Amino acid sequence: MAGQRELSAARERLAAAHAVAVLTGAGISAESGIPTFRGAGGLWRNFRPEELATPEAFARDPRTVWEWYLWRRGLIDAAEPNAGHRALVTLEQQRPRFTLITQNVDGLHDRAGSRRILKVHGDIWQSRCTACAYQRKDRALAYPTLPPPCPECGEPLRPGVVWFGEALPRIVWAEAERAVSQADVLLVVGTSAQVYPAAGLIEMARFVMEVNVATTPFSPSVAISLQGPSGEILPALV
Ligand code: OAD
Repeated sequence: MAGQRELSAARERLAAAHAVAVLTGAGISAESGIPTFRGAGGLWRNFRPEELATPEAFARDPRTVWEWYLWRRGLIDAAEPNAGHRALVTLEQQRPRFTLITQNVDGLHDRAGSRRILKVHGDIWQSRCTACAYQRKDRALAYPTLPPPCPECGEPLRPGVVWFGEALPRIVWAEAERAVSQADVLLVVGTSAQVYPAAGLIEMARFVMEVNVATTPFSPSVAISLQGPSGEILPALV
């Protein structure tokens, strides 16, 4: 666990910062019981991303891809936001210039009460049409037929997430880049920082503080590295 000295240095730096940006990854939801991707018990240890999280996989076997996303929706639906998510709500309320950027699709930041969230990898609680512009909020945990048909054109709906090989949502990404380049502090929480372009945000930041139970490729070069669970470190920071 991070020491008191590091924690107070981080607290001071955060208090002095005018603009704050935060980048979160799967680790922030780990204490809510949602599996991460790459750690022990991580999804990519048990499933092959190329069979579940690529446009090619969906074209080949949309039913299996949907089943996997509906299973994940069920896990997330049964989970609750944790103290780490809640601490970021407090931080947003304290700060006039605050931007939360998340790679997570689980919606737990929304449920905790964060207001402005840049979801660079989309949202598991959205569906959109593979053919037309139709999209909707979608809380379904099951469907009578898979893939569900678009109510407007009848073509398959797909989960509203970003898959490997796909571009990130353009406007959301541009806002994330701008927020990070203008931030006095970027707080990076619970991400292995291996997936680009999202991890590239860390390279754009002026001053980086990292919160993670483990080390990442960025740990040696960040200004402050706070090792420990985000559900404990973030409340101690704010
Ligand atoms: P990863 O699973 O790659 O990394 C999770 C990180 O969280 C690891 O560095 C862990 O050490 C850390 N961690 C675990 N528990 C923690 C805790 N309680 N407190 C703090 N840190 C903790 O997840 P991401 O980096 O989010 O993309 O993965 C990035 C992207 O890869 C995901 O958005 C997803 C995935 O493929 C897409 O689906 C496009």
